[in-house]
Amino acid sequence: MLKILTIIGARPQIIKAAAISRNIQLLNAEQGNVCPVIEERILHTGQHYDANMSQVFFTELGIPKPYYQLQVGSATHAQQTAKMIEGIEKVLLSDQFHGVLLYGDTNSTLAGAIAAAKVCVPIFHVEAGLRSYNMTMPEEINRVACDALSSLLFAPTKTAVNNLHNEGLQSTKATFLQGRHRKIILSGDVMYDNSVYFAQLAEQKSTILKQHALQTGRFVLATVHRASNTDNVARLSAIFRAFIHLATQENQTIVLPLHPRTKKQMQALLPQALCHEIENCPNLRIIPPASFLDMIMLEKHAAMVLTDSGGVQKEAFFFAKPCLILRSETEWVELLEAGAGVLVDANQEAIIQAYQQFKNKSVAFPLLFGDAHAAAKIVQSIRDYLGDDCNK
Ligand code: UD1
Repeated sequence: MLKILTIIGARPQIIKAAAISRNIQLLNAEQGNVCPVIEERILHTGQHYDANMSQVFFTELGIPKPYYQLQVGSATHAQQTAKMIEGIEKVLLSDQFHGVLLYGDTNSTLAGAIAAAKVCVPIFHVEAGLRSYNMTMPEEINRVACDALSSLLFAPTKTAVNNLHNEGLQSTKATFLQGRHRKIILSGDVMYDNSVYFAQLAEQKSTILKQHALQTGRFVLATVHRASNTDNVARLSAIFRAFIHLATQENQTIVLPLHPRTKKQMQALLPQALCHEIENCPNLRIIPPASFLDMIMLEKHAAMVLTDSGGVQKEAFFFAKPCLILRSETEWVELLEAGAGVLVDANQEAIIQAYQQFKNKSVAFPLLFGDAHAAAKIVQSIRDYLGDDCNK
């Protein structure tokens, strides 16, 4: 039996892990659960701790309860990451794991990579090879470091594979435990697996549209949480001024599930007059962070999506919705190439103009993110890579 430690901590990782956990459970069920092929233990760092940023996803997506909880909470990057590294190392030393599964690009990913690499436990990085080439983003630092330390790099797209090749990461020079070499695998995107898998369940279970009296195609969905937007008063103000313009001048309903970081920064940074305008703008509907099934419903039924989130950009694409990207660059360049997304940055005029253009434009959404079986490919590749380790 292979024993794998899955490390999660932030909202998007919990969602990505659901796809792999589901496949591990399926695989074990095929063996009658008597002799599981893989034992997965989940470690939650506690980077996200609010119930609507964490617990709700476990309940909704059928992910096993975390076996280990570090409860690190919020702090500076170094403090938060250091606490995680210490906690993860303890777990890795307390038991024998054949590998560690890491997701995406958060501080929890980086901490897992450093802790596992130092005790020579193979790292499997899901969502490897994404690059914004903006080294001021904490996420870019986390990705570059995690990819360099990983044994198996699961790239969601061809662009991601090329990025890894360009950095020389396919090189057979680096050797890992037992002389093994690194492998880059084009797996497809586990988020596409999840969107396909959960879309029907969302239609049955989610009541979000009813709760907020939203009609299909009559609202746009917005999310804002990137540090570069929330921690800069000029950028945060420009984004909200654009939202107010669309809500009042274009009579467009905007639904904004508010990330706790953004809520905190709006209170701390925005001028009082702007806060007052936001509060008194009936078409700008600020709601608490949404569960995954609710988010799927919002994405599926919106007319358009405005976001600075990597995950939400792509989900907009999965549900054939044009997307205005509130950043100056994106890791998901396929969306730009397909003409389904446009970079508007935190620029009030650019946001309004792009909204007007996209409102009447027809856009194509080709299949770019795999065949919705990325997780199965990932689980099989891990088994192939570890080979006989399961007998140890
Ligand atoms: C993190 C990830 C980002 C990911 C995002 C998804 C890093 C560097 N960033 O950003 O890549 O896209 O998660 O949400 O890892 N907070 C709460 N309750 C919570 C969580 C956060 O109130 O449950 C507040 C705290 O004030 C905290 C702030 O949000 O200081 C930022 O949280 P943090 O996890 O550091 O970063 P995110 O902005 O969530």
